[in-house]
Amino acid sequence: MPRHSIRSTVSKFDLTPILREPDALPAELTSQSLFGNDSPLEIEVGSGKGLFMQTVSGKQPESNFLGIEIARKYAVAAAARLARAERTNALMVPGNAEPLFADRIPDGSLAAVHVYFPDPWWKSRHKSRRVLNETFIANATRCLASGGRFHFWTDVLDYFESTIETMAIVSPQLGPPIPEEAAAAEHDLDYRTHFERRSRQHAIPVYRVCYHKP
Ligand SMILES: C[S@@+](CC[C@H](N)C(=O)[O-])C[C@H]1O[C@@H](n2cnc3c(N)ncnc32)[C@H](O)[C@@H]1O
Repeated sequence: MPRHSIRSTVSKFDLTPILREPDALPAELTSQSLFGNDSPLEIEVGSGKGLFMQTVSGKQPESNFLGIEIARKYAVAAAARLARAERTNALMVPGNAEPLFADRIPDGSLAAVHVYFPDPWWKSRHKSRRVLNETFIANATRCLASGGRFHFWTDVLDYFESTIETMAIVSPQLGPPIPEEAAAAEHDLDYRTHFERRSRQHAIPVYRVCYHKP
């Protein structure tokens, strides 16, 4: 039985090529070290069950995608989606994105960073646990290539507003946030992420922005 097989409909897939343990990653995370080519690399932080990873890797076969998801069971579920879809341009890491952005991603190397519906950590004393903190934002900005994009969507107004403020202070070189629009959903999985689907189906407002590195 392959190490990363999971039960149910995906048990026949060997996830080993798609689910990369943090301690088995190359020292530097690049398209060349992860995928063996020089295609643009985009990273999603907190992929959940992997809807975005599956959709975008199919729509943009000319790019590579790395999903970093700290909850192992979700990282495995996302990897299973990618295996089932036979993606060769997408990988999942079951781990914490923060140290990887701090130490392992070369400056100016990423075409995009995607952060969709990050955990809000509602209690005041827990807000320091938010992934979009000053250090992470500074590291993500440093890792973006010229022309790179930083996408941030949430349904938590307080998180949205505080992140916009932090971005302006920590990463003024990215300029002002550019609003992004929701696309019309044509079927049940036609949303950016599972959390976007949940919010829209419950008529919860979603705040969507993108920043561009000059
Ligand atoms: C609210 S869920 C949203 C999942 C998905 N982005 C979506 O929109 O459906 C936030 C996800 O971020 C993950 N996460 C939280 N902190 C993280 C970190 N430091 N590194 C990687 N993933 C993280 C959580 O485990 C969780 O799956």
